[in-house]
Amino acid sequence: MRTLGQFPAYRPRRMRATETVRSMIRETSLSVADFIYPLFVKEGEGRADQVPSMPGVYQLTVDMLPAEIDRLCDLGIRSVLLFGLPDHKDECGSEAYNPQGIVQRAVRSIKAHCPEMYVITDVCMCEYTSHGHCGKLDDAGRVINDATLEWLSAEALSHVRAGADMVAPSDMMDGRIAHIRAALDAEGYEHVPIMSYSTKYASGFYGPFRDAADSAPAFGDRRAYQMDPANASEGVREAMLDIAEGADLVMVKPALSYLDVLYRVKSETDFPTVAYNVSGEYAMVKAAAANGWIDERRVVLELLLSMKRAGADAIITYHAKDAAAWLAAEGE
Ligand code: PBG
Repeated sequence: MRTLGQFPAYRPRRMRATETVRSMIRETSLSVADFIYPLFVKEGEGRADQVPSMPGVYQLTVDMLPAEIDRLCDLGIRSVLLFGLPDHKDECGSEAYNPQGIVQRAVRSIKAHCPEMYVITDVCMCEYTSHGHCGKLDDAGRVINDATLEWLSAEALSHVRAGADMVAPSDMMDGRIAHIRAALDAEGYEHVPIMSYSTKYASGFYGPFRDAADSAPAFGDRRAYQMDPANASEGVREAMLDIAEGADLVMVKPALSYLDVLYRVKSETDFPTVAYNVSGEYAMVKAAAANGWIDERRVVLELLLSMKRAGADAIITYHAKDAAAWLAAEGE
């Protein structure tokens, strides 16, 4: 490390005087290519229902998707992450791997309308089980790890058969990346990448999402499978484990309270690393902005930039549409 004593004449403000010199030495940039936009898809027809705790985010029926995809394309957004809201939930989350399930139909509809749109699907059981947990339960109400892997692989496979470009398991079971990789490879889907929610914490910031996806656990919490917020080294180990099992991208989720973990996962794995800017983070910004307490545009771009600076290669964010429009306006 150099010491400042070696540079007695260094005057940082000289390079801050104008936008031209500032942009000349800028270390990090934000681009619409960084964004992955989450979409919530529900049963029914002709509906776009706003999520109360997430202003600007809608649950859409499948017939509403083509128009939404056109809007995203116009903004330059090229990839989406799908979440399904089935009408029917049961103990074994059977809608998750139904070939005619809500996500499977949504994937087919998007790919038929716009083959260039890159479709990623969230692979998890909590939106499909009647108890709202991310897997199969034993009599004591604990999630059984290895039996859940069968469901997750069946779900991932059905998404890929429907045309998904990438699958993203978010359940936090041990060994699921290897299991899903083997299931995809066995059917000739070696070319389909897996984005692992490798480093996912048991977080209070998922509250609004559970309204949006109707996936709150009916009892207890997810601390027996999601990570302890106190652990950073374990977050890096989780990412390395998933890479060893075949993950193509790893993730840190949530983003803002875990930028230290994001920095470490990126620098210690040197693998493509995604930040998930989650629902609670979005809701806080929206609430403060609605009250006129913060400048939404400035704050959102600053937050997204902080994730890039910490090491994110891509960002899953509900702000994607607004941010894309703001970045386009800056470029004009
Ligand atoms: C499914 C899943 C969750 C999120 C993404 N996938 C919820 C959870 O784990 O309870 C959260 C996303 C967000 O808060 O924006 N397991």
